Amino acid sequence: MNNGIITIDGPSGVGKSTVAKSVANILGLMYLDTGAMYRAVALQVKRKPININNENELLSLLKTTNIRILNNKNNVLKIILNDEDITDEIRSPEISRISSDVATKGSVRKKLVELQREIGLNGNIVVEGRDMGTYVFPDADIKFYLEATLEERAIRRKKQLMENNIDRDLENMIKEIELRDKQDKERLESPLHPAPNAVIIDTTNLNTDEVINRIIREVKGE
Ligand code: DC
Repeated sequence: MNNGIITIDGPSGVGKSTVAKSVANILGLMYLDTGAMYRAVALQVKRKPININNENELLSLLKTTNIRILNNKNNVLKIILNDEDITDEIRSPEISRISSDVATKGSVRKKLVELQREIGLNGNIVVEGRDMGTYVFPDADIKFYLEATLEERAIRRKKQLMENNIDRDLENMIKEIELRDKQDKERLESPLHPAPNAVIIDTTNLNTDEVINRIIREVKGE
């Protein structure tokens, strides 16, 4: 590897986090979940609450927003907002919605992209998000873009929530993910799309291990 950066991008619910974390563990690299950063800003917005369309309010909120991500040796992440552990709190459907809104804001993206590049500076990292290969790390060694049908992603998300005893209606989940897809793909700032040199993997009919193996083989040039 050259700069030691592997990017994994793709839409909501495609399974990026699980895959990226496992790939990082197998290759002995660090893992960064950049969606968690947008979720941390979303939690701040919810708590204050501010009007995110008012740039002054947003900028002053960002000044008081200090996000840190701590990795343990298995790349289980702790997300820290101003010294508070918010790891679990940012996984709610409400925060998913607000994070997709705050992610359309240039000032939010600017602050988080700086932090992401700082964390990625020394390489040896698997970074996961929406614009890792297209914008944040355009010179990454190898880029992946995961996709899957809307229905399959909603089913996966539902299963994930069930593990945390949250039961959601599948039709509603499909609508929510569809809305987030639209917002993530159509926003002006770093919209979601595959980097031209990304390896695109359709995961609809693959299980997690198959996706992980496919990525590892690609990284090893097999
Ligand atoms: O991956 P996730 O669902 O945790 O991401 C939450 C939101 O953050 C998602 O709607 C899009 C946004 N996001 C982004 O715009 N850019 C990233 N690199 C990561 C996430």
